[in-house]
Amino acid sequence: MKAERYEKAFLLLSGAILVVFIGALAFATLGMGIRLPGRSGTVDPNTVRTTPPFDHPGVREVGPNHYEAVVLAQAWRYDPQEIDVPVGSTVTFRVTSADVIHGFYIEGTRVNFMVLPGQVTEETYTFREPGEHRLICDEYCGAGHQLMSGKVVVR
Ligand code: CUA
Repeated sequence: MKAERYEKAFLLLSGAILVVFIGALAFATLGMGIRLPGRSGTVDPNTVRTTPPFDHPGVREVGPNHYEAVVLAQAWRYDPQEIDVPVGSTVTFRVTSADVIHGFYIEGTRVNFMVLPGQVTEETYTFREPGEHRLICDEYCGAGHQLMSGKVVVR
């Protein structure tokens, strides 16, 4: 019967698409290391400016070729405004907001996440090429939103 043959074909096609999608997912997570930014803790937005490590935002070396960038986002700037790291270094960004929801997008990289007050978001990235990346707030956060930017300099 003709209908049965079509049925078989569609079943096979559906199965094949499923296999391709699961394969793509496995390749992206295991092969390319793409995953969601992690939640690494909570912090009270009212006292964040006096709570370590956000009382001293900035970049520090935490291991060979490994840096930690602690960034406090607030209307309408990042503290620090500029993050300087050597070429080839792996940087773990630990970011939170002191007021409203902001964005944290480093142009030319896959670092792109929301910054939520009360929550610390962690993301790690390796900068293999020298250059300058703009750091952009890509969540509308009020009247000065379009002024909110910083940069990552890789030397
Ligand atoms: Cu901060 Cu838009």
